[in-house]
Amino acid sequence: MSAPIRSFLFVPGDSEKKIGKIAGTSADAVILDLEDAVSAGRKPVARQLVSEFIAAEPSAAVGPQLWVRMNPLGTEHALSDLAAVVASRPAGIMIPKIDGPSDVLRVHHYLEALESANGLPSGLIRLLPVATETPLAPFRLGDFAAAGISRLYGLTWGAEDLSAALGASTNIGPGGAWATTYQLVRSLTLLGARAADAEAVETLYVDIRDDHGLAESSRRARAEGFSGRIAIHPAQVEIINAAFTPSSDEVEFAERVVEAFAADVGTVALDGKMLDLPHLKQAERVLALAGRPRSS
Ligand code: COA
Ligand code: MG
Repeated sequence: MSAPIRSFLFVPGDSEKKIGKIAGTSADAVILDLEDAVSAGRKPVARQLVSEFIAAEPSAAVGPQLWVRMNPLGTEHALSDLAAVVASRPAGIMIPKIDGPSDVLRVHHYLEALESANGLPSGLIRLLPVATETPLAPFRLGDFAAAGISRLYGLTWGAEDLSAALGASTNIGPGGAWATTYQLVRSLTLLGARAADAEAVETLYVDIRDDHGLAESSRRARAEGFSGRIAIHPAQVEIINAAFTPSSDEVEFAERVVEAFAADVGTVALDGKMLDLPHLKQAERVLALAGRPRSS
């Protein structure tokens, strides 16, 4: 199991200045955005800037994995985005506003053709759908498990486009936490991703000055089973990386658990407590999280 990506930093694809900051980020991955951060008139410029940037950064170089957010299927931009960026070998594509696994399969097939046309290994480019941005999408989160999309990296969720699609005036509940609908789709994303043996990626934290709230909610997300989070500002990256990295105490304990199970037993006692196989699985996950996915 390779270590999951802790932080995905969004970078507007038409901003030369912000793209220029990628070299200095400690994000595990960046997502060069061709969708909502780029106005309709700037799409062609963004496509070209992003393709050239990725092509100039060989994937073996030190630094973050380079992902691209394409425009939604059904828009005039989607196929042009894929056709433009595949040759540059992005690590993955984020697909916004899907209605379910069949949309992701469509992109998978487009990528098979484009990888072949560009002499790239089949399945090289991974996929991360934003799986809750339409009212229909949340009902299909459980269907990823049987969809057999081998290049699926994980699932993430978003509250902004869903609330717009629902005609909601807010996505926040009375206590300041997500309103019920968004808590529901967040949990379904976590369950759907894990059922599909894929990563669950927490949504962005919109208040870029609230470091404490970001740290707190990110730690909670990891405790619930998410393995990484979207960042929208460079200052959020270190906080997210720290929250999704197990502490040295956690790693040490996990090593002791794995060691205790080395004798091929189903139950052991450690520090006076009974541990069985779910604890072993949890410990192995902590050790996987402690490894790092960045190219080195
Ligand atoms: N990627 C790379 N660099 C970024 C960045 C990002 N996402 N966000 C900010 N920066 C840079 C700025 O250009 C600025 O550089 P400078 O110091 O040389 O001027 C520096 O980091 C500090 O930025 P700051 O002034 O605090 O923020 P801002 O007002 O320039 O930008 C946002 C605020 C929210 C517009 C910006 O963070 C952003 O564009 N985020 C990503 C938005 C996006 O992609 N959304 C789509 C997904 S929801
Ligand atoms: Mg959006």
